[in-house]
Amino acid sequence: MTSIAPPAAQLDRPASPARPPASPIKPTGTARQGLFATRRPDAWWIEPTIVAIGFGAFILYSLFSSLVWEPVFHVPYEAQGYLSPFFSPLIKPDWLPWWFSPAILILWIPLGFRTTCYYYRKAYYRAYFVDPPACAVGEPTIHSRYRLEAAFPFILQNIHRYFLYLAFIPLFFLWLDAFLALRQEGVWRIGVIGALMFLNVALLTGYSLSCHSFRHVIGGKMDCFSCSRGALLRYRAWERATWLNIHHLRWAWASLISVAVTDLLIRLLAIGVIGDPALRF
Ligand code: FES
Repeated sequence: MTSIAPPAAQLDRPASPARPPASPIKPTGTARQGLFATRRPDAWWIEPTIVAIGFGAFILYSLFSSLVWEPVFHVPYEAQGYLSPFFSPLIKPDWLPWWFSPAILILWIPLGFRTTCYYYRKAYYRAYFVDPPACAVGEPTIHSRYRLEAAFPFILQNIHRYFLYLAFIPLFFLWLDAFLALRQEGVWRIGVIGALMFLNVALLTGYSLSCHSFRHVIGGKMDCFSCSRGALLRYRAWERATWLNIHHLRWAWASLISVAVTDLLIRLLAIGVIGDPALRF
């Protein structure tokens, strides 16, 4: 029997290396396949359920408060010198139509910052996309074509660091609002809502400074922390950012709640449901 050999030129040619895929594909992992399939005996579903309800409630409330409350129900976002954090800084040119909420002009920054946050990504991937719902818990096979954050649309998550830079703009104005609210009509006051505004902006500052990207901005890309005075300073700052970063999840939730509560109390004050007990001098 004669065998057909490949031409000599073909034998000499080195095997061409396999082309890497255009973007990585999510590995199957070792978890059982199938939605919620798991051997875990603990109540793994509690955390994603709380996240789904809590985060969903915040999104609904913030949409209602920023888009509906004032234009439809005429509940002001400003009362007795207190400005709702959803509307700060207030950008309201005269040509803005009555139905257009000024919150839209600024809210895209904190929303973009939160949506692309590393912690929130993990939280909502689990709670809403069940991708996977928890460690070692099966997910639906519809995710087999998921290409991580290396392809559209999730590649957009990588703009997080730019949202971090932008986030300092509303943060600056929120501090300004809290200080300006200390004085109304020539009288100094320390009220409950004013104190809450300070607490809120302090929590938001903690949330921003504990950001993973911020930690990288401060201490990343450095080969030597002890080689210069400047590098040493960055090391000290990086240490503090690292300490804050350990608690990023707590900053995220505490600031989320404080924003909503501050807004709610200002609205209730505006329509006279509550007062603002304050020391005035
Ligand atoms: S990682 Fe959460 S705000 Fe940056």
